[in-house]
Amino acid sequence: MSNSDQIDYWNGKAGEKWVLHAERLDALLAPFAGAVLDRVALIEGEHVLDIGCGAGALTLKAADQVGTTGQASGVDVSEPLLALARKRAEDRHLSARFERADASQYRTRTEMDALISRFGVMFFDDPVAGFANLKQCLKPGGRMTFACWQSLAENDWARAPLEAALPLLPAPPAPPPPGTPGPFAFADQDRVVKILSDAGWSDIEIEPWRGNVTLPGDTAEEAAGFMLEIGPVARLVAEAGINMALVRAALFDLLSQHAGSDGRVPMPAAAWIVSAKAQ
Ligand SMILES: C[S@@+](CC[C@H](N)C(=O)[O-])C[C@H]1O[C@@H](n2cnc3c(N)ncnc32)[C@H](O)[C@@H]1O
Repeated sequence: MSNSDQIDYWNGKAGEKWVLHAERLDALLAPFAGAVLDRVALIEGEHVLDIGCGAGALTLKAADQVGTTGQASGVDVSEPLLALARKRAEDRHLSARFERADASQYRTRTEMDALISRFGVMFFDDPVAGFANLKQCLKPGGRMTFACWQSLAENDWARAPLEAALPLLPAPPAPPPPGTPGPFAFADQDRVVKILSDAGWSDIEIEPWRGNVTLPGDTAEEAAGFMLEIGPVARLVAEAGINMALVRAALFDLLSQHAGSDGRVPMPAAAWIVSAKAQ
């Protein structure tokens, strides 16, 4: 279990872009931090670990909830994102700790009450081994709650811009085989249940989350610019080397149709909020 592709990816340009756009990404993903924290229901004094914590937005919210008698920590493979997470904690005078490690092989110094994650657990080459390891980080009876995306087809915010860009490609890229590590790897909830139960978790519950996410930017033009910077379209454009101006125009056309009266662009999104217990 090496996870080396993802480790390289998140320490390269992707990590740098997430740092650059961290505030805007946190605004986009804010509803899911709320959904995870509502479900896991942390109490003061608890010890909680955020898996694939990135720039630490969820960890810092958890730190507020567990208070000074508790401890919130984050683990991630991306050094640029962890540097920002540490700076944010320092700026907010929060004692959250951040450690660079592959979560699928990580061991905590003390047993945790809870594990949480916002879109940070879909990147393991061997998810059963990864989740079996994570279970060892919890006290017996400890709990885990994470958010992961439903399928690309259910996530218009990511799918529609991709479809707008596809006709501009010389040939459509082959979709990755189901289960390939990546943002949509946990789209199939039966697969998630199987992974967690094979890894020894119990009381597995999966709740659908459906709603709108508002794309970053005050206008459709700014939202189109953002989609060219980060996410599935940006990756496609970089890999295929297609004409950026044409893609920008296609995205602008599409997003203008979704823009509200304030100019901002809300689009449908769908995630799973997954909970389980360590026996
Ligand atoms: C989509 S980002 C989410 C970041 C953060 N949870 C948030 O909501 O802002 C996915 C994160 O998972 C991290 N990641 C990927 N594979 C990992 C692994 N094996 N162990 C720890 N973190 C990992 C990436 O570095 C990245 O920060």
